[in-house]
Amino acid sequence: MILDGILPFARLLIEKTVSHSNYFVDATAGNGHDTLFLAKLAGEDGHVFAFDVQEQAVQHTADRIGQAGFPSRVSLFHAGHEQAQNRIPEHYHGQLNAAIFNLGYLPKSDKSIVTKPSTTIEAIRQLFHMLKPGGLIVLVIYHGHEGGAEERNAVVQYAAQLDQQQAHVMQYSFINQVNTPPFIIAIEKRPEA
Ligand SMILES: C[S@@+](CC[C@H](N)C(=O)[O-])C[C@H]1O[C@@H](n2cnc3c(N)ncnc32)[C@H](O)[C@@H]1O
Repeated sequence: MILDGILPFARLLIEKTVSHSNYFVDATAGNGHDTLFLAKLAGEDGHVFAFDVQEQAVQHTADRIGQAGFPSRVSLFHAGHEQAQNRIPEHYHGQLNAAIFNLGYLPKSDKSIVTKPSTTIEAIRQLFHMLKPGGLIVLVIYHGHEGGAEERNAVVQYAAQLDQQQAHVMQYSFINQVNTPPFIIAIEKRPEA
C-alpha cells in the first residue's frame, strides 16, 4: 500500500519533529508501544513524559521500557494527561517536540476506562502551550466505542476552531473504510505562534 496506515502515519509525523533536543509526551501510554517508540526517538539526551490513569497500563509501560533498557529516558505518571502542566517540569515547557494521544480504551482491558472529551481537550490545550514553535500534537481518534462519537465530535470541533495564525490543523482518514476506523487529527504549532 502506498498510502500510510493510520498508526504508521502518526509515527511518521512525530519523526518529522526530531531536532537537536527531543522531548516527547505519550498522553495515553496504554501498553507502552508509543512510549517505547518515543524513547528510542528521544535518544540519549532526550526525554519522554508518559501518562495513564490505569495502574495496569503504567506497569505494562514500565516493564516494556525497562526491558528495552530505556528507563532513564522516560518519566511515567500514573495520572491523567490533564495533569500535564503540573507534572512536566517547568524547564520543559515550551520545549516539547511532540505529543501523541491514542483516544479510546486499552485493548484487552477494562473497556469502561476511556478517554473523555473534557480531559482530552484540557490536555490538548495545555500541551499546545508547552510545545516548542513548530511542535506537533498527533491525535489518533478511535471512536467506535460507547462515548467515542461524543469525544470525536468534541475534539474535532475544538481542533477546527483553533486560530490558523497559531496552528496548522489537519485530518487524515480513510473515508471508504467500514466500522468506524480510527483517524488522525494533527495540530502543528506555527513557528511564529
Ligand atoms: C487506546 S489506549 C492507548 C494505547 C497505547 N498508546 C498503546 O500503545 O498501547 C488509551 C489509554 O488511555 C488511557 N486513559 C484514559 N483516560 C486517560 C487520561 N485522562 N489521561 C491519560 N490516560 C488516559 C486508558 O487507560 C488507556 O490505557
